[in-house]
Amino acid sequence: MPTPARIHVAHALHEVFGEGGRVPDVWDRGLGEDATLAQALLGLCLRRWGRLQAWVKPNLKDSARGIPLGTRVALAMGLAQLAWLPGVSDHAAVNESVELAGDRELGFVPHKGLVNAILRRAAKDRVALAAALDALPPALDRAPAVERALQAALAPHGAEGELEVLWQKLQQPPRPAFRQLMGPLPEGLVDDPDLAGCLRLEEGASFPRTWLESGSGMVQDRSSQALLAYEWDQPVTRILDACAAPGGKTTALAIRHSEADITALEVHPRRAARLRQTLRQRALKVRVIQADAAEWLEAHEGTFDLILLDAPCSGSGTLQKHPEWPWIAHDELPRLTDLQHRLLAAAAERLAPGGLLIYAVCSWLPEEGLAHSEWLATARPDLRPAEVWPAAMLAASEAAVGATAFFRPHPLRWEGEGFQAFAVMAGPR
Ligand SMILES: C[S@@+](CC[C@H](N)C(=O)[O-])C[C@H]1O[C@@H](n2cnc3c(N)ncnc32)[C@H](O)[C@@H]1O
Repeated sequence: MPTPARIHVAHALHEVFGEGGRVPDVWDRGLGEDATLAQALLGLCLRRWGRLQAWVKPNLKDSARGIPLGTRVALAMGLAQLAWLPGVSDHAAVNESVELAGDRELGFVPHKGLVNAILRRAAKDRVALAAALDALPPALDRAPAVERALQAALAPHGAEGELEVLWQKLQQPPRPAFRQLMGPLPEGLVDDPDLAGCLRLEEGASFPRTWLESGSGMVQDRSSQALLAYEWDQPVTRILDACAAPGGKTTALAIRHSEADITALEVHPRRAARLRQTLRQRALKVRVIQADAAEWLEAHEGTFDLILLDAPCSGSGTLQKHPEWPWIAHDELPRLTDLQHRLLAAAAERLAPGGLLIYAVCSWLPEEGLAHSEWLATARPDLRPAEVWPAAMLAASEAAVGATAFFRPHPLRWEGEGFQAFAVMAGPR
């Protein structure tokens, strides 16, 4: 029987390559100390899936025949451990993968012998295996959707020629960023020198799991923190967070505008319930309403001084954190861009005179960000760009620009998820 860590990894790989879905947020729950191995192994399999499959093909007798997913998963996991996880013994890497191949749900029983033979051969020279895999073209690990996302990230900065550099950067697991909510800071967390309020883990410090579990802090990507560092000194009494779960940005808004009346919308009932619970645990006074934001806004009479529309999107900017992104289904883009448009149009109608609307997506694709800002500029010329983000914070080379109304960090110079956001303000009160 394979260890729970390997079973969890195999399930996650089946979800991605069998169902075209994302790795569930809590995929490694309950693994305890084994979570570190599982995370490393899953990351390697996802980031190097194309090369692992390309290595396997010529090692099969009949490489033209389709290989069942169960076999591919067992081989990829075994090879990844042999090549890149020197702490895993030959015995564990091979035998556990053979066991997986023999599992009726996760493997492909008739290929148990084949998996055994291939992995035993590979285990004879692990250094040569790693060298052979590393020598295969990195482009094998990029599905077509990735090439488009990377080009979209680089083009606005005139850096189209740096695709391989960006791809390499995105292969490193991201360094987490944190925000303090209450109480003292644990050891190992230090201020980010370039972003006020953002906390980073010192080199070698252990992950502050207990601090996070106690509710004293939260993980929040550096780009999200920079987005929420908008400079705005107008009075803010009514805030709408239109797409709020899981609530990281709602939390930051509630702390920053502690006197404001905040409404948070979320369409999915389970996510809305979790959001309500999270905000309650953090002792934040926010009205959570489970509703489609566009419908709710269309039916709602009131206006808001600050609207954050952190819209559902393809998540192309989260490639570094979600190495499964290249391999999941990407047929949802037209539905998402329609939804973003509908949400933006409805939100713009509810902006109070003198109010600020921030639209954001964690995506580099222009149709999810830039195109919406261009549409809004034409459809609502009364809403003016609001230069609320210091340009120097986003890219040193743009320091001369002063402030910007379009938040689009440079993907090579900026550490954090890929984002596009824009801010507009309504005419005076
Ligand atoms: C990008 S996430 C928001 C992340 C959140 N702002 C945070 O920082 O934690 C988008 C959220 O919008 C929700 N959503 C999707 N369609 C929606 C709709 N029509 N109305 C309201 N919420 C929606 C999704 O379920 C998801 O939770």
